[in-house]
Amino acid sequence: MSKIFSSDEIKLAAKAINAGELVSFPTETVYGLGADATNPEAVKKVYAAKGRPSDNPLIVHVADQAEVAKFADIDAKSKKLMDHFWPGPLTIILPIKKGTLNSVVTGGLETAAFRNPATQVTIDLIREAGVPLVGPSANTSGKPSPTKPEHVMHDLDGKIAGVLDDGETKIGVESTVLDMSGAIPSILRPGAITEKDLEPVVGEVQTDHHQVGKDEVPKAPGMKYKHYAPNAQVYIVADQEWDDVVEWIKQHTDQTIGVMATDHIFESKKLGSFDNVRFISLGKDSETASRELFDGLRTFDANVSIKVIFSQKFDRIGIGEAYMNRLQKSAGNTYFSDID
Ligand code: TXA
Ligand code: MG
Repeated sequence: MSKIFSSDEIKLAAKAINAGELVSFPTETVYGLGADATNPEAVKKVYAAKGRPSDNPLIVHVADQAEVAKFADIDAKSKKLMDHFWPGPLTIILPIKKGTLNSVVTGGLETAAFRNPATQVTIDLIREAGVPLVGPSANTSGKPSPTKPEHVMHDLDGKIAGVLDDGETKIGVESTVLDMSGAIPSILRPGAITEKDLEPVVGEVQTDHHQVGKDEVPKAPGMKYKHYAPNAQVYIVADQEWDDVVEWIKQHTDQTIGVMATDHIFESKKLGSFDNVRFISLGKDSETASRELFDGLRTFDANVSIKVIFSQKFDRIGIGEAYMNRLQKSAGNTYFSDID
């Protein structure tokens, strides 16, 4: 049995980290699976607990900028980014000083990803442990990232020392990953901090939209794996398709159908009137939808009778870009228009 650590048990949680055990920690994005980044044996346990491929490098979570300087030279632009966006949902990839981080952390790359999460209990945990923490999302590899302590327990109970409980996470999708190791800053994974937010601070930023092939080595190795996938098939629904979805629901009364959409769609399409629909609200916009997405997918996953999930499309504006990136992965890029 894994333990739930409350915010006044940070010392206990830090002890577990220092003993080479795993502790899940809260961030403003999703829960991370923490281990001492300077202890290769502890880091190996992270891959084992998640079932994560070992060529997928981990983010190093730090309490402040000074901690990064031990492992990497911080260039002027990266310093500006840290001053502006840290603590916050921006992960920065930098070339590392040789020999400072074990290859189990970096996946053998000459760069590493650094992040300073905006959650006080986690900053306190890192300070108390006295070491940075590696922290992939604390889910079984391939499943939706955890936004609540109970999601972590569902996937990892018995495999980790415990979870530091800080309730539900605020943003709900993982941090923006920005590669600062090349000539032009490059977004490898969209998050709450967008190109539009970054450009006033560092000038030109590019986004890597490239879909990585099976035998290719992607820039962010995590991008090649199947992600966020529930057992049901997810279909993305564009605004103008909801009337067709309602028709489909009427024709499939023998099925239990999961629907994730805004309250506005729920009311205007009278989705409450169908016995075969299980509805999860995405709130009012892409911001609330990002917060609810992974919890919604997990809730439907717990209902074995649901084989089909319809989830609302949002414009790729602001956090809508990150929401659509995660939704497309969970849907295997399948839209309602692709349904038989
Ligand atoms: O919000 C977040 O970033 C959460 C919380 C817990 O901090 N963490 C998270 O970690 O999402 P993870 O491991 O699930 O995703 C890290 C991503 C992966 O796609 C990984 O391949 C990429 O960052 N990455 C890590 N180090 C890298 C490097 N040196 N170069 C390129 N990509 C890297
Ligand atoms: Mg992850």
